[in-house]
Amino acid sequence: MPVILAIESSCDDTSASVCVDGKVLSNVIANQSIHEAYGGVVPELASRVHQQNIVPAVQQAFAKAKVSKNDVDAVAFTRGPGLLGSLLVGVSFAKAFALAKNVPIIEVNHMQAHVLAHFIGDNKPSFPFLCLTVSGGHTQIVLVKDYFDMEVVGQTLDDAAGEALDKTSKILGLPYPGGPLIDRNARLGNREAYYFPEPQIPGFDFSFSGLKTSILYFIRDNVAQNPKFTEENINDICASVEYRIATILLNKLKKAALHYGVKDIALAGGVSANTGLRLGTKEMCEQMGWNCFIPEMQYCTDNAGMIAIAGYYKYLKGEFADQGVAPLARMPI
Ligand code: KG4
Ligand code: ZN
Repeated sequence: MPVILAIESSCDDTSASVCVDGKVLSNVIANQSIHEAYGGVVPELASRVHQQNIVPAVQQAFAKAKVSKNDVDAVAFTRGPGLLGSLLVGVSFAKAFALAKNVPIIEVNHMQAHVLAHFIGDNKPSFPFLCLTVSGGHTQIVLVKDYFDMEVVGQTLDDAAGEALDKTSKILGLPYPGGPLIDRNARLGNREAYYFPEPQIPGFDFSFSGLKTSILYFIRDNVAQNPKFTEENINDICASVEYRIATILLNKLKKAALHYGVKDIALAGGVSANTGLRLGTKEMCEQMGWNCFIPEMQYCTDNAGMIAIAGYYKYLKGEFADQGVAPLARMPI
């Protein structure tokens, strides 16, 4: 019955979770609104706010789970990838807590944790499965052979899908973070209204930089300073961009699933919160007779629940980290 405290601080969300015997009992997420004014995450500010938020987030995580901090058996934390200053806050907190309570620490790879978020609920995929992990910094198709045996079979050669969505929203003058706003506007728009080309990239890899540039030129030439452009047109652009990005992602996912003969298909990462992508994935799986796994919203974007479940499986294997461990800005899956 291990009790695990988990900490996630890789980007701009400070999160703490308590997991008992593989059940995630709390998942507290403190968002940082300070970055809105800058149109993106400012690393220096993110570290400072993590420092302010981490103790209250941990206290709330214990209170919600109704677990005493004296009962913790191990502390799991995100080692990387992420912003170094942000990671340092979580890693240092985990080490200090573990030292005080004389318990081991468990390092977790953030990208593996996004995939392992599928093991939080009762509806778990079977190995091997394919997971499309799409976030602000990553776009990967991962062949998941076991809890910690994952192979990236396709990835972006340049920008991440989330980055293309965030950039589009910024050019349209919408506030940061753009993904959720594109999603909201897209629901009111016509996805066939504008056509943006799909890049022709071999294999299971992606490229979003050409698409990002064509969206940017389109908006510069048609929307900026054009009084005839209405809110309706903006909704149509959001719907068309979202549809194109979802189509690019799903076409590659389908190709990879057919190639590897895998029938369990999963989505993970912040962009998996997107309504169009969620619906598109479900439709594709229904058509193909595949099993579809999409995490609950709170486990799509960055959260400590996924770090807790990854920590739990490492605890069962007896895989603990040394107190000398350092965070890694880059960390392969
Ligand atoms: O996984 P995540 O929370 O952080 C990283 O590890 O990057 O992903 C953040 C990304 C951002 O690009 C954000 O705009 C996007 O996820 N996102 C969405 C939605 N919610 C978050 N994109 C589209 N639709 C959404 N509903
Ligand atoms: Zn993430």
